[in-house]
Formats: sequence, structure tokens, C-alpha cells
Amino acid sequence: MSDLSLTILAETANDAQAIERLHERTFGPGRFVLSAYRLREHVDHLLDLSFTAWIGTLLVGSVRQLPICIGDTKALLLGPLTIEPPFRGRGVGRALLDRALRDAKAGGHRLVLLVGDEAYYSRVGFKAVPKGRATMPGPVDYSRLLVAELVDGAFTNVSGAIRPDWSMAK
Ligand SMILES: CC(C)(COP(=O)(O)OP(=O)(O)OC[C@H]1O[C@@H](n2cnc3c(N)ncnc32)[C@H](O)[C@@H]1OP(=O)(O)O)[C@@H](O)C(=O)NCCC(=O)NCCS
Repeated sequence: MSDLSLTILAETANDAQAIERLHERTFGPGRFVLSAYRLREHVDHLLDLSFTAWIGTLLVGSVRQLPICIGDTKALLLGPLTIEPPFRGRGVGRALLDRALRDAKAGGHRLVLLVGDEAYYSRVGFKAVPKGRATMPGPVDYSRLLVAELVDGAFTNVSGAIRPDWSMAK
């Protein structure tokens, strides 16, 4: 960002209310029926791999990641990624994504999955999951199911149902 100084921090428990309000404003009450939210009901997101974007003391964006499995393979589910409307289009989303993926890789994670627009997320390495390779619990538009390999070839031979990583259950 050129005109404003942006700070990216790991999420803390103190951020929960502000992030919830951001999600409510962005996605509305219908968000709880989305397939990705069903996974989030069972497992908490990882605070050290979830990030907030700040301009001064103002929280302007958030991204979360939570532990899932695709078949027997461990992965992360990224999302929601949300930026306050007045701060969109200034690279905040990109900065959050770069940090989330960088720290996930540094932490030994190999795969990140999300439901979103390929046109946006392809910029940071996400590709459409080939049809039939992975199934979400509940309704989902499979053309929006995307995966990023943090290690080359990490998605090769991976398939199956996407579910919470029960070893991390609440
Ligand atoms: C999508 C979102 C996270 C992007 O954040 P952002 O901070 O505005 O994004 P950045 O500034 O990093 O990137 C902006 C670029 O992405 C493009 N872009 C934004 N949303 C896009 C989309 N859905 N599809 C394709 N391109 C998109 C912009 O046109 C812009 O392009 P440019 O760089 O060529 O001008 C933000 O708009 C948002 O919070 N939207 C509402 C919530 C949402 O849809 N979240 C994603 C759920 S999957």
C-alpha cells in the first residue's frame, strides 16, 4: 500500500468480536448455512495461522485458516477472507493471503483449500480442484472449490471427503 501503513498480525482472542461484526456485515446471517461454515462448527481456526490487517488501531481485514482433512490427508481450509469495503482494492487481501500461505508453509502445512473465485485466488497459486476429487459436507458450488499446493505435487493422489480434522476438535 502506498498511502497508508498496513500491519499484518496473527489473530488473538481479543479480535473475535470485531471479526464477527466484519463477517456479519460482509456475508450476513446466511453465512451459517454455507458448507465451509459447517466445517468451522466443529474445529476452531488456528490463531497462529489466522491474520488481521490493521491501519493504526482500525481492523480492516481478516483471514482465517482451520485444520481439515481431505480423505486421510491433512490440509488447511482458508477463509473467510474479508476486507472492510472502504479498504478494498488496495492490496490488503493480497497481504493477508501472502502471510497466511507463507506461515502455513513455514509451519509444515502442504495443502490449502478454499471456496472462492478462482480469478482472484489464482494470483496466489490456487487452482480448481478437479471435479470429483474432493467432496464438501453440504451444498457447495464445486467450480469454486480451489486448492493450493504449498509443496510441489502435494495434491497428487489426494482425494476424498473434506471433513474437520477431528484430532483438533473443540
Ligand atoms: C475479495 C476481497 C477479499 C479482496 O480483497 P482486496 O483487499 O480488495 O483485494 P486486493 O486489493 O488484494 O486485490 C484487488 C484486486 O483483486 C481483484 N478482485 C477482487 N475481488 C475479485 C474477485 N472476486 N474475482 C476476481 N478478481 C477480484 C480486484 O479487481 C483487484 O484487481 P487489480 O489488482 O487488477 O486492480 C474483498 O473484496 C472482500 O472482502 N470481499 C467481500 C468478501 C469476499 O467475497 N470474500 C471472499 C470470499 S471467497
